[in-house]
Amino acid sequence: MTTRYRVEYALKTHRRDQLIEWIKGLLAVPFVLHSQPTAVFEPRGETVDQMASMAQRRYAEIMRDVEEIINDHIAHQRAGAPDRSKLKLLVPSVANFFTPLALHDAFIWQDQRRFISSRRFVPPSFNDIRLVLNTAQVMSLVRGGPLDLVTFDGDVTLYEDGQCLTPDSPAIPRILRLMRKGTKVGIVTAAGYTEARRYYERLYGLLDALQVSDIPPASKQNLIILGGESNYCFKFESDSPDLLKYVPRKDWLLEEMLLWQESDITELLDIAEASLRDTVKNMRMEAIIVRKERAVGIIPQPGHKFCRETLEETVLTIQKILDMSAVGHRLPFCAFNGGNDVFVDIGDKSWGVLACQRFFGGIEGSKTLHVGDQFLSAGANDFKARLACTTAWIANPAETVQLLDEISELDEMQQRKTR
Ligand code: IMP
Ligand code: MG
Repeated sequence: MTTRYRVEYALKTHRRDQLIEWIKGLLAVPFVLHSQPTAVFEPRGETVDQMASMAQRRYAEIMRDVEEIINDHIAHQRAGAPDRSKLKLLVPSVANFFTPLALHDAFIWQDQRRFISSRRFVPPSFNDIRLVLNTAQVMSLVRGGPLDLVTFDGDVTLYEDGQCLTPDSPAIPRILRLMRKGTKVGIVTAAGYTEARRYYERLYGLLDALQVSDIPPASKQNLIILGGESNYCFKFESDSPDLLKYVPRKDWLLEEMLLWQESDITELLDIAEASLRDTVKNMRMEAIIVRKERAVGIIPQPGHKFCRETLEETVLTIQKILDMSAVGHRLPFCAFNGGNDVFVDIGDKSWGVLACQRFFGGIEGSKTLHVGDQFLSAGANDFKARLACTTAWIANPAETVQLLDEISELDEMQQRKTR
């Protein structure tokens, strides 16, 4: 029989974001009280505009309150007692915040674009709140300026799953715009290759555009790639045939990473590989096992697609087995569902982002933004970046473009204010 624990865990914990769900619950009350669904058949009732301004005021007040509860949590963090904040009681899974969140202003901003308050039948949704949180984060970063480092995930964030950053990508001019403003850029991807050529093949649109751009040569150096989550570092180099140069590990590894033992890496990957082989057999998956120096995974046989449930089963099984192993406590790892594959990598994106911060001379988490698509608490690889910096959770490459435009628009507003 399915226990309560399993239902709670399986249905909620790893598939929901508790902070977003909590805010959604708070906004449901003004929606119920102030939306006017009957107005569609009562033409003499309140107009949509009247209703929307009332609803907006109520929603925005709540967002202001949440903003203050987060500020209180940050005050507790600073005092070394984050577990004692009110927010921690309300949302136990909440971690540390690197900056306050301008939630009130961000709600108004998104409401002007998404017309959340004008809706009479559809309450504020997960996606509405996710986007408000992203806007709130970039507002706070820009206001606290300057934004020193932006790290991007690859698949689904910069290009569609399994595709490449081709020259026509609208993200490219926007990334160059960031670099012109002095922001450093890191691509922190799970894709783990030892040769520059493979990264060039995935990212050539951006690399070629940077090469021919009028950005000064010294600033062109402000693009690096951290591949395999936190295993391989390449930096932009105009003279290299693939425009990328391998950076030896000794030049960028953090002290803690030097303690990772080769024997532990092999042991962890062996356990992961055995678990994958088992699941492939049990679930009759048409899979190919891929073992690399710092990763092991399964990809579908040509022409096959895994269903979501099978991928989730695979990743949750492997996560559990590694959590229970001794080596899984000695060594950080990341097991994730890549959409049509499952991989276990040594290290994770928190180390990838920390390595970028170190590479660029010690940039702080409160001056760094990681943009990614995988922020669920299990089976997702961008989630760990939250330990290293502020984050924005996007759902597709078009949202990344929108976010970059928002940063630029907010930046211009900020410049005008300080002039
Ligand atoms: P990301 O979204 O940029 O982090 O890339 C994730 C995808 O990279 C995975 O879903 C895989 O398809 C691909 N990939 C290629 N090599 C590796 C590897 O060594 N580890 C993990 N993922 C890899
Ligand atoms: Mg991704």
